[in-house]
Amino acid sequence: MIQAPYSTVWDCCCDHGLLGMSLLKDRCADQVIFVDVLENMMASLADRLARDFPLDQYSWQVRCDDVKNIAVPDADSQLFIIAGVGPHQTIEFIDSLCASAPDRPFDLLICSVHGNYSVREALINQGYKLKDERIICDKNRFYEAIYVSKSADQPLIETGSPMWNWADPVHQDYWHRTVGHYQQKAKNDPVQFQPIVERYKVLRASIESA
Ligand SMILES: C[S@@+](CC[C@H](N)C(=O)[O-])C[C@H]1O[C@@H](n2cnc3c(N)ncnc32)[C@H](O)[C@@H]1O
Repeated sequence: MIQAPYSTVWDCCCDHGLLGMSLLKDRCADQVIFVDVLENMMASLADRLARDFPLDQYSWQVRCDDVKNIAVPDADSQLFIIAGVGPHQTIEFIDSLCASAPDRPFDLLICSVHGNYSVREALINQGYKLKDERIICDKNRFYEAIYVSKSADQPLIETGSPMWNWADPVHQDYWHRTVGHYQQKAKNDPVQFQPIVERYKVLRASIESA
């Protein structure tokens, strides 16, 4: 999905660093910065990078740190990827990156584990617009890849919009699971969650007729 090149891509919560390594290989950025809190993992990642991506040919850094400690530096074009953590943490990271440099533009590629409605709300509150979005089904689990920029021109919608293809049974399955999830939550907290259920129903009507 990434519309390269960026001067710097940050692979936040990188774990083994597989995503950032594939970006290095594809030359998606001048530099890739890997960030995770796991000390041992970061030490072995640094060893592997030194072996497979020598610094005379590639540019990378490994930072063993909490994403919330990152202050977005001044750079030409930057992308922060936050993938594989839950919605609460994802939103904390988005808000903390934005707070660290309110006037410095940077793109985000988000792939949260669940809770995409609230993640999208947080992105909208920070002024982000849509570059691209996809529904991903992997090992019977669903994810949304949400690629945003403040300078993009499509609106970002809480339920997702262009990613939906109602002719695709996988997307229908994802819609049913998502609505079922919020219907369950609406049983305990109808004020917060029933409007979300209704938004997904309106979305379905619009994508079915498209
Ligand atoms: C499931 S892995 C995600 C790996 C990869 N991004 C992916 O999508 O496959 C989650 C990673 O987030 C890291 N993590 C959790 N909280 C973090 C924080 N506050 N700052 C940096 N890394 C964090 C964990 O150490 C773990 O390696």
